[in-house]
Amino acid sequence: RIVYVNGEYLPEEEAKISIFDRGFLFADGVYEVSTILDGKLVDNAGHLARLQRSLAELDIPAPCSMEEIETIQHTLIERNAIAAGSIYLQVTRGAEDRNFLWSEGLKPSLIMFTQSRGAKMDKVAEKGLDVISQPDIRWQRRDIKTVALLPASLAKRKAIAEGANDAWLVEDGMITEGTSNNAHIITKDGKLVTRALSNKILHGITRKAVLALAKEAGLTVEERSFSPDEVKNAAEAFVTSATMFVTPVVSFDGVKIGDGKPGPHTTRLRDLYVSFAK
Ligand code: PDD
Repeated sequence: RIVYVNGEYLPEEEAKISIFDRGFLFADGVYEVSTILDGKLVDNAGHLARLQRSLAELDIPAPCSMEEIETIQHTLIERNAIAAGSIYLQVTRGAEDRNFLWSEGLKPSLIMFTQSRGAKMDKVAEKGLDVISQPDIRWQRRDIKTVALLPASLAKRKAIAEGANDAWLVEDGMITEGTSNNAHIITKDGKLVTRALSNKILHGITRKAVLALAKEAGLTVEERSFSPDEVKNAAEAFVTSATMFVTPVVSFDGVKIGDGKPGPHTTRLRDLYVSFAK
């Protein structure tokens, strides 16, 4: 695989970053994951706009223009001949001797690599996910897409250890979001309920597209918090993310949602999203 690191295209074995990079020492960096479908990027303008916002919130200067980032993305997709997969990009504040307070004028680091899409993902989507609840122990700026993903990794590992596929995080008795996706339910009276945007969740690019498609399809969308009990009593549930598109959730904390199979609204929204993405 050819990857990109600070101005160079290199075989992955040769790509190097300083041990003093603040991304490594302080998780001082942000990232984006864009999907590649039929060799093309999906909703990339949204991902780059969110990247700019994340950088601005943390006062990290952009390493280059967004047009240049897009050029690098396309070069990597071509050089690695990726038809279906994703492209990861990460910007960190840069490298200097370890110090909580950083120096002004550091040169940010930019790395990028592609990942092919495994067939496993589509199988999981067909069957649906078993999800468990976990306390949301993340920081209070989840709207910034930082690389500090340890709480999410721990929650996901717990879910796998308990025989589930993923966790939905709970704070103050309400679901925030999934470990790496936004959480949604369809109530028995056919409403799509999803948490409103705030610092408590990542403002998902896929979430935004799916809500627009849902409204166009005539579904009523309610942006409000919902509880674990509402998930158990929902007709359907699903997650959205760049890599999972719309993926059904078929059980929550061991309780079947609906009849325990992917529901019609979720299946329809997935089809609508895939058509939109292509
Ligand atoms: N995760 N919430 C969290 C905490 C996420 O990490 C993600 C994305 C989402 C969905 O956002 P979007 O629709 O823009 O992908 C919501 C990416 C895919 C990841 O970390 O791999």
